[in-house]
Amino acid sequence: MATKKKKLVIGNWKMNIFTVKEAKKLVEGIKKGSLKTKNTDVVVCPPFVYVSELKGLVSKKVALGVQNIFEEVQGSYTGEVSAQHLAQFKVSYVIIGHSERRVRGETDASVAKKITRALENKLTPVFCIGESTRDDHGDYLSFVKTQLATGLSGVSKMNIGDVVIAYEPVWAIGAKEAMNSNQVHEMSLYIQKCIKEMYGAMVPMPKILYGGAVNADNAREIVDRGYVDGLLVGRESLKVENFVGIITNVDLIK
Ligand code: PGA
Repeated sequence: MATKKKKLVIGNWKMNIFTVKEAKKLVEGIKKGSLKTKNTDVVVCPPFVYVSELKGLVSKKVALGVQNIFEEVQGSYTGEVSAQHLAQFKVSYVIIGHSERRVRGETDASVAKKITRALENKLTPVFCIGESTRDDHGDYLSFVKTQLATGLSGVSKMNIGDVVIAYEPVWAIGAKEAMNSNQVHEMSLYIQKCIKEMYGAMVPMPKILYGGAVNADNAREIVDRGYVDGLLVGRESLKVENFVGIITNVDLIK
């Protein structure tokens, strides 16, 4: 059952935090605030420009991630960053296929290649999926299933347990209210069912996270009652007290 694993809380800074000093202060605050947590791994995903400065702050509990990589290994791709660039900076996670990238043209095919590149370089892909709108006929379920199948097309049975799946309904990202925990539970079960259909019942289940309008007040309920393994957090990961509040509340779950 997915919920028995260690919890995972990932902060996506997006295009925020504008000085090295601020970035370091944020990570140091998060580290200090999570000293007493026992069951929760934490990841911070700053903009690329900070990874070299932050690599010295990586610890057992607080790991470093990035928000994207390029889909090819190397070559004439001006402005892109390869998975291979990142190992030397102690980066261990990469968010792939976030809806804010998909609306700017990132396709399922490109997401699939990026997931493969991440795994080849021992980075944990945080594979984002989620429908833009809900309908009464359940079309959103087949939409999510297709996103899963296409994105994971290069991932073998051997590797599926190394992927993290972040379910983020696009309508809840940046919104006032998160999805309710019953709906989160329904999607968590559905994603597990899709994975079993694709890989068989015996494979290790990837961690499943929820993302979209998570805060310190709703975090515990979403994880506990939504039966997910953790959270992908945007806005509320930018302030130490807010993010630490989320982490400590998730860590209280038995
Ligand atoms: P939010 O963003 O927490 O600000 O809603 C979530 C995300 O984009 O992952």
